[in-house]
Amino acid sequence: MFFDRPDSGENTILVHLTIESDTERDDPSEFEELALSAGAKPVALITGTRRQPSPSYFVGSGKLEEIAAVLHAHKAELVLFNHPLTPSQERNLEKYLECRVLDRTGLILDIFAQRARSHEGKLQVELAQLQHLSSRLKRGWTHLDRQKGGIGMRGAGETQLELDQRMIRQRIKAINKSLDKVRGQRDQGRRSRKRAEIPTVSLVGYTNAGKSTLFNRLTNAGTYAADQLFATLDSTLRRIDLPNFGQAIVADTVGFISHLPHGLVEAFRATLEETSSANLLLHVIDGANEAHEEFKAEVESVLAEIGADKVLRLEVINKIDAIPGMAPRIQRNDAGKPIRVWISAHSGAGIELLNNAITELLADGLVNENVILQPGQAKLRSQLYENNFVTAETMDEEGRYLIDLRLPRAELERLLAQETIQLGEQVRPAEGPKSWPEKATESSLPAANSA
Ligand code: GTP
Repeated sequence: MFFDRPDSGENTILVHLTIESDTERDDPSEFEELALSAGAKPVALITGTRRQPSPSYFVGSGKLEEIAAVLHAHKAELVLFNHPLTPSQERNLEKYLECRVLDRTGLILDIFAQRARSHEGKLQVELAQLQHLSSRLKRGWTHLDRQKGGIGMRGAGETQLELDQRMIRQRIKAINKSLDKVRGQRDQGRRSRKRAEIPTVSLVGYTNAGKSTLFNRLTNAGTYAADQLFATLDSTLRRIDLPNFGQAIVADTVGFISHLPHGLVEAFRATLEETSSANLLLHVIDGANEAHEEFKAEVESVLAEIGADKVLRLEVINKIDAIPGMAPRIQRNDAGKPIRVWISAHSGAGIELLNNAITELLADGLVNENVILQPGQAKLRSQLYENNFVTAETMDEEGRYLIDLRLPRAELERLLAQETIQLGEQVRPAEGPKSWPEKATESSLPAANSA
């Protein structure tokens, strides 16, 4: 109820000035994309150059009249500025132009509000929106600053401004409380996952790169198993089964945008920190976008800022269906490890290559083990085959299967904790985790690989 946002299809005027004192040169085409992402319908782009912003209207008087004329000619209802505006600039512009004005921060907050999928993400965006709004209220919203009646609406003698500020403060307090709770749950979830040694693969990338499309593609392709561990957690975490590997968690994150308002980076720090604890980052890049190199650098710098630049990285060049002559492929470094994969999340081309690359990179955590299955354990045996964990198998005289496995350590521990299986004697570590079945230690059977 508090927030100004472009309605879908609303005729919108875009204003982008080049400010000489500003070393950053924003790209107006990126601005247009942002406006489209928010659901606005840009009908005109007004550009110009100024040495520095005017304190009262950001633009000079001539430019202001130009905006007003274009606004009326197009019967537009909204003016978007590709710059942060001070509360008084925004207010002055609204008064003069007699229409809604939104600055870059407000626009980005709006996009984040639409895109945030998790409960935590939604709370974070609302918090950032309220903080943005309260700074605007603090300096006085004169058209709201007047006495208003109404039973049960407010304390005696309060102005509407005070009432608005009080409501915002209360809401901020409530959100902070909810956020503390969600963060506690998330930390607990992260600890449980670490304990279970389930690797996490985190998707990062510039907004619109195709992360969510890829997330859906990856998680639908794998078998999604509902898991209590994640029941209370972020909906953007999913468990997948990677062929030849086993379970992994895939995490989708909020998209990055250049010149993110600082408050927003702060608000999302906790979520982004999830990224720095991942085992593998998939940096999704829109290969069809001409500016992808700049976007990539932008993402890299945010990753460095949150300490995620040390995490193992795989670049995923997406949207190859939109690049003529481009086929799925994989690029490796001198050590033979995958560093880049070309795919189309949309068509599914190259997904298998990507899955293989992910498996290969995560597989450094794989272990070799030998187990002995009884004739009655056919179901378990077939599961091991389905997951491609089996590298060799022989049968002894009593009809027991002596099986060589190659699998992630976490899968092995899960297997040993849940099933009555025996380990091959020779490879049994001297001191295994306490949850390992006692009888395995008693095994006098030969190891599968020596049978
Ligand atoms: P944010 O939520 O803003 O961070 O975006 P995102 O990175 O999650 O991108 P999303 O998956 O929402 O995709 C953005 C747009 O790109 C959508 O219109 C998708 O349909 C499109 N898209 C995604 N993958 C492909 C692809 O492989 N090829 C083509 N041509 N379009 C794609």
